[in-house]
Amino acid sequence: MKFMRTIMITGGAGFIGSHVVRRFVRNYPDYRIINLDKLTYAGNLANLKDVEDCPNYKFVKADICDFDKLLSVIRDEKVDGIIHLAAESHVDRSIKDPFTFARTNVMGTLSLLQAAKAVWEPLGYKNCLFYHISTDEVYGALELTHPEGIEPPFSTKASSEQHKAYGDKFFTEDLKYMPHSPYSASKASSDHFVRAFHDTYGMPVIVTNCSNNYGPYQFPEKLIPLFVNNIRHRKPLPVYGRGENVRDWLYVEDHARAIDLIFHKGEVAETYNIGGFNEWKNIDIVKTLIRVTDRLLGRAEGEDMDLITYVTDRAGHDLRYAIDSSKLQRELGWEPSLQFEEGIEKTVKWYLENGEWLDQVTSGEYLKYYENMYGGR
Ligand code: NAD
Ligand code: TYD
Repeated sequence: MKFMRTIMITGGAGFIGSHVVRRFVRNYPDYRIINLDKLTYAGNLANLKDVEDCPNYKFVKADICDFDKLLSVIRDEKVDGIIHLAAESHVDRSIKDPFTFARTNVMGTLSLLQAAKAVWEPLGYKNCLFYHISTDEVYGALELTHPEGIEPPFSTKASSEQHKAYGDKFFTEDLKYMPHSPYSASKASSDHFVRAFHDTYGMPVIVTNCSNNYGPYQFPEKLIPLFVNNIRHRKPLPVYGRGENVRDWLYVEDHARAIDLIFHKGEVAETYNIGGFNEWKNIDIVKTLIRVTDRLLGRAEGEDMDLITYVTDRAGHDLRYAIDSSKLQRELGWEPSLQFEEGIEKTVKWYLENGEWLDQVTSGEYLKYYENMYGGR
């Protein structure tokens, strides 16, 4: 079969990447989708079981730092679009091991840009696009000027009765980058390289910066799946500091839908912020998770509140993230689809119904499984 386009999605075996791959494989049968992933601890092909046999899907095990391999895949497969998600993504790991973050997020992105340039430049970049997925954390941290929260001057479907804004300022696309963690510094650097390839070589690029995602298939080192798993096993819930830090949460499928829209309709060289105007203090999320998980497990709602354990704060812990996504809403008509309560309920339910996935991922069983298939990791 002749495909209309060939799109390479990097990091497709990870949390967000697997939702993006699934969406593109299902929605675009006339596109060939190549999932290029190194399968680090965070990559898991079980996340894509339901699409692995689709005729328009192909998996390639490769490291984004392997320039020669990237060159051959982009050239031989005639890749004309790249959606780049592969990265080291956990702030706590970056504090312990910043080199790995610089290697993958900076050098890996640069290798991918160089390989794409080598193949696409001779074609005049015709119908080519390098779409880089980044984070709101590159903007640094906002102040918490309204600790009790205020009703924000906007409305969105993601908002809810409890929805509040905890400060007057939001991250907009024109803000100066002020990353604080090694993770956000490495992502900021990769964003700069992507834009430099547009400005220097004329490569068509788009960058998007999204807020915290939640939903199925997130590796249980991140707040929401870690805590659901711990409540399930009645293990302590380590809340950093006083739990006062604010994050802006978006359901992962809403992010994947935004990526689809921007890939097809976004303006080249533009940046779009993606978020649902949905700020929550960590401690309020944790209490909500306990109530929902208890109820779904048939326990008395809230009986596990005593699992909350305040622990030493994360070094350099950013106080507040809040994305202003009005450019994306105004220019491309995107809106988040889910109320947060609905999304949290769906998410907790998914983890509880997929306890086997959680157990395998936390036990490292899946690492052994793929060792046989792909010859070691
Ligand atoms: P994840 O950690 O769940 O998945 C990362 C994937 O990249 C894994 O499949 C891993 O195997 C792969 N990978 C890592 N190093 C690689 C390498 N050297 N070569 C090839 N593949 C490699 O991450 P995620 O949460 O799905 O995040 C995906 C992207 O979205 C990242 O770029 C991240 O910065 C960005 N992002 C994440 C969030 C969030 O809340 N999770 C928010 C905004 C932006
Ligand atoms: P995380 O899911 O690691 O995402 P990020 O650091 O990219 O925002 O953490 C979300 C928030 O939860 C963050 O403020 C740190 C906090 N947190 C805890 O309090 N305890 C934990 O065990 C974890 C993993 C996170």
